[in-house]
Amino acid sequence: MKTEVIKIEEDSIGEDEQRAIERAGMTIRQGGLVAFPTETVYGLGGDALNPASSAKIYLAKGRPSDNPLIVHIAKMEDLYKIADQVSLEAKHLADIFWPGPLTMIFKKNKLVPAETTGGLETVAVRMPVHKTALSFIEAAGGFVAAPSANLSGKPSPTIAKYVIEDMDGKIDMIIDGGSVGIGLESTIVDMTGDVPMILRPGYITREMLEEVLGQIDIDNTILSKDSKQAPKAPGMKYRHYAPKGELKIVRGDVAAVSKKINQLTKIDQESGKKVGIIATDETQSTYIGDSIKSVGSKLDEASIAQHLYLILREFDDEEVSAIYSEAFSDKGMGQAIMNRLLKAAGHQVIEV
Ligand code: TXA
Ligand code: MG
Repeated sequence: MKTEVIKIEEDSIGEDEQRAIERAGMTIRQGGLVAFPTETVYGLGGDALNPASSAKIYLAKGRPSDNPLIVHIAKMEDLYKIADQVSLEAKHLADIFWPGPLTMIFKKNKLVPAETTGGLETVAVRMPVHKTALSFIEAAGGFVAAPSANLSGKPSPTIAKYVIEDMDGKIDMIIDGGSVGIGLESTIVDMTGDVPMILRPGYITREMLEEVLGQIDIDNTILSKDSKQAPKAPGMKYRHYAPKGELKIVRGDVAAVSKKINQLTKIDQESGKKVGIIATDETQSTYIGDSIKSVGSKLDEASIAQHLYLILREFDDEEVSAIYSEAFSDKGMGQAIMNRLLKAAGHQVIEV
């Protein structure tokens, strides 16, 4: 299959761009697949109400089909067409955080095929805030199932280059919208229990949610290593987000971390390995190593979130075989950052 790539900048959607978006929407209506930018990461879209489209998504990603997809909508009223029992609390969260990087889980109704929800009786729904994504979802008929647009197991793409790398020849179209804003996937909150529960941390933090609703639970498998329980979001159990090189996190006092990483780097280099280091603006100059990258400033969590997957992908391009990363604060959005980093590292942490 030939994959068409079209460039559309979010801030300059004119007539030509709108026509291209309509065409992308038509492709979805006809059962095809289109990758598109959102504010979090790129999504791989198909018609959420067409079982054959969901099956195609799993195939293109190489993803196990028990791992449910998020249904993306563009209008609040569309939520009620696919979800049952939308609570007042959910309505309240939607009023505040939609459109935006929040996914909520509801009881599904008959319109949503089991293929889209991995056989579950619940459905995950999100209304993104990215303008191109919103127009595209409308053009596609209103319900776009979209996992992140990476091959299963790889870091989610935050620029179109990595969507092309993973999906070229497998899907109909890729909308290249440049670099995404947030860089980590949406916060997922399960709204089906008595108390809403965070199943995947993201840009919308627990504190932000609690400010609106009071108490919120968090799936405690999220930050722990060897919890016996399976995570409640099926996708969180897979070794996701992983780069090719072996990633280890070094945690402790700043000077001790850089000393330890440099020692480990020397040993690895002596055995012929190419070493990549995930540093920060503040510490970048203290490292030796073959490829030293700053993920952002320690004082700016948003910059760290935005660059983390990008750096992991770049290390893949550079064929780095060992990667060391500093640990980051796990407060606020740091919880999402550390959740993804720990998963990428298979929970290998060296304390100093
Ligand atoms: O930011 C995002 O959410 C991106 C963009 C493209 O919108 N999408 C995304 O989708 O991250 P994906 O498929 O890579 O991750 C969806 C996660 C998986 O961990 C999946 O198991 C969980 O959501 N999930 C989906 N439906 C669920 C359900 N009904 N119950 C529990 N977890 C669910
Ligand atoms: Mg994903």
